[in-house]
Amino acid sequence: MNSRSALAWGQNKMFITFEGPEGCGKSTHSTRLKTYLEGRGERVLLTREPGGTQIGKNIRDLLLDPRSVLDRTTEVYLFAADRSEHVAKIILPALKEGKIVISDRFIDSTIAYQIGGRQLPEDLVRYLNMVSAKGLVPDLTILLDVPPQVGLKRAAQKGAVDRFEKEVLDFHGRVREKYLEIARENPDRIKMIDTEKTTIEDIQEQIRKIIDEKC
Ligand code: TYD
Repeated sequence: MNSRSALAWGQNKMFITFEGPEGCGKSTHSTRLKTYLEGRGERVLLTREPGGTQIGKNIRDLLLDPRSVLDRTTEVYLFAADRSEHVAKIILPALKEGKIVISDRFIDSTIAYQIGGRQLPEDLVRYLNMVSAKGLVPDLTILLDVPPQVGLKRAAQKGAVDRFEKEVLDFHGRVREKYLEIARENPDRIKMIDTEKTTIEDIQEQIRKIIDEKC
């Protein structure tokens, strides 16, 4: 199976993903970007992982429930199952309809959390990513970077802590390091923005600049 972005797949609209550690602000910025693009007359689908489909919502509950005790291999299979449904039923059909698709998390989350955080074998996770995404790679990924101490505090202020947020600081440190590594390895696709000391407006402005250059 070959890896291809939406544009390389023959679609004329971009597939954009938002990534980052806990509390990085993905939901806020992906929602604002959707509004911005719609203002430019685009048709936009905003979706997320895990939980972008009906079956995915059940999988999300299993994965995020702090009472779930999951073997790390079971966990990565559940993320892969969620993604298979999501790509087949939501993402590819929307791209085929000519919509820009924005996903809050995608394959890079699995690399950062399951390889970096959980320390699962790299070849297993990359293979599952390829199969579950059907070879689809984002055209553009916005990585919102934040140090774990800062991000976890932001996430805790939002309310109940999920199964990942309650992981130890070391885990979140490894997740962030993995994100930084994949950003260095994929400079054309992954654009990183430091969110620690930047206002929401400044971050949004940086995102719009990146988008305006790309589409
Ligand atoms: P998240 O979007 O952060 O949910 P919320 O913002 O509502 O808390 O995603 C849920 C969690 O799932 C997050 O901690 C990251 C984790 N995750 C993985 O570990 N691997 C993956 O492949 C994906 C998509 C998410």
